[in-house]
Amino acid sequence: MKADGRDSWSGQLAFVLAAAASAIGLGNLWRFPYLAAKYGGGAFIAMYVALSLTLGFVLLVTEIAIGRYARQSQLTAFGAMGHPKWNALGVLATVVPLCILPYYNVIGGWVAKYFAAYAKAAFLGRAGVFSDPSAFFSQFVAAPWEPFVAMVVFTLAVLAVVVLGVKNGIEKANFVMMPLLLAMALGLAAYVASMPGAWRGIRYYLVPDFSECGGVGKVVLGAMGQMFYSLSLAMGIMITYGSYMRRRDSVQKAAVRIVAADTFVAVLSGFMIIPVVVMFAGGQGGERPVIDAGPGLMFATLPGIFDSMGPAGLWLGLLFFTLVIFAALTSSISMTETCVASVCDFFRVRRAAAVVAIGVWSVVVGSISAFGYGRWSCLSLFGLPPLDFFDSAMNVLTPIVAALTCVFVGWSLRPKRIIAECRRGGGGFRFAAFYVVMVKFVAPLLVAAILVSEILRIAGVWSV
Ligand code: PHE
Repeated sequence: MKADGRDSWSGQLAFVLAAAASAIGLGNLWRFPYLAAKYGGGAFIAMYVALSLTLGFVLLVTEIAIGRYARQSQLTAFGAMGHPKWNALGVLATVVPLCILPYYNVIGGWVAKYFAAYAKAAFLGRAGVFSDPSAFFSQFVAAPWEPFVAMVVFTLAVLAVVVLGVKNGIEKANFVMMPLLLAMALGLAAYVASMPGAWRGIRYYLVPDFSECGGVGKVVLGAMGQMFYSLSLAMGIMITYGSYMRRRDSVQKAAVRIVAADTFVAVLSGFMIIPVVVMFAGGQGGERPVIDAGPGLMFATLPGIFDSMGPAGLWLGLLFFTLVIFAALTSSISMTETCVASVCDFFRVRRAAAVVAIGVWSVVVGSISAFGYGRWSCLSLFGLPPLDFFDSAMNVLTPIVAALTCVFVGWSLRPKRIIAECRRGGGGFRFAAFYVVMVKFVAPLLVAAILVSEILRIAGVWSV
């Protein structure tokens, strides 16, 4: 504990690991490989790296520095910096994780279910459980109670870590889960690369192909939207995590490392997934295989492929879903912590009370999404199942929060305050001029472009 009573990370490594653990999630595993395959392979990867190191870096530095300066979570941070009028932005930035958390935990429950099913099948030697993976998935999400129970189990696991606090809970959990996650991802990617025929998939993943990517604009927007979600930006998370950062540590170095770790795991996931899909489910000869997005890839295509590998596939599936569950747990922990910290800062209650409140919120609101494909499938919000509706709504809300944060820093607070915070203690900040131009002009415009493309996508006019 610090003198101000606020918990803090034990050091720079713990902070970077926690932020990276939040950033590395389902987005890296199920969305990045799919987008890279869709948008011209190597060209998309290069674009993604360039955007992460510029726009991603600037937004990350901004959020971390706001948190560390204010020593408050996002709900009260803006006011604590002497700008009470901007507290409304804090409220908006708190609505985002409050709304994402419940349905993210529903998906976490799905992952937990697959993890348990693979563990059971692998240890009991029961192949064939996933012989019809699409039916397995649709029956599971439509079952009367199972998705709800799975969500509750996943949520309880997350709450059990968060209730222990920043240093004793979150930090320790990350120190166990993150190295294991990395080792499993490296091991799986190496195994896949050693399979005969893997080169065709690797080439497909890495060699730029502009014939089907739909133009540079789509590639840039696709990369930008993905980067944004993948770095857990505009959800208050990096503000809250920054508020636990020690003053003597370097914000600049931490931000670069977080971007590097997140990008590394995203690219690695492609090596793990794309060759497998191309080898087993891809088209013959020169045909370009169609790779499913998101849930389809993770809960149907991959289990189908593992199944075709016989008993060894069960162990591969178990390893893969262990990796996925770690990624989902650490991301959910970061979101839960953000919500819990906001409740603690605002209502000045104890952590345990805030954890109970957020747990109840998550389970009650999450049940709308958990039952949304089965028991309550008649429920539709603007023509969408509840989970899809919340997801779309959040894709619109996050760019709004990010753009307003840039306007706040660029035009109200002034960038020099952020730069000064970065220069406090150790480390320095070498990109001051670049930062000012980015946060005042470039970042708000780029983020506005994501917003417009998202609205057009939802309206069904145009899709990235
Ligand atoms: N950044 C995570 C990912 O890449 C997703 C996430 C969303 C994490 C919301 C925390 C909060 O999957």
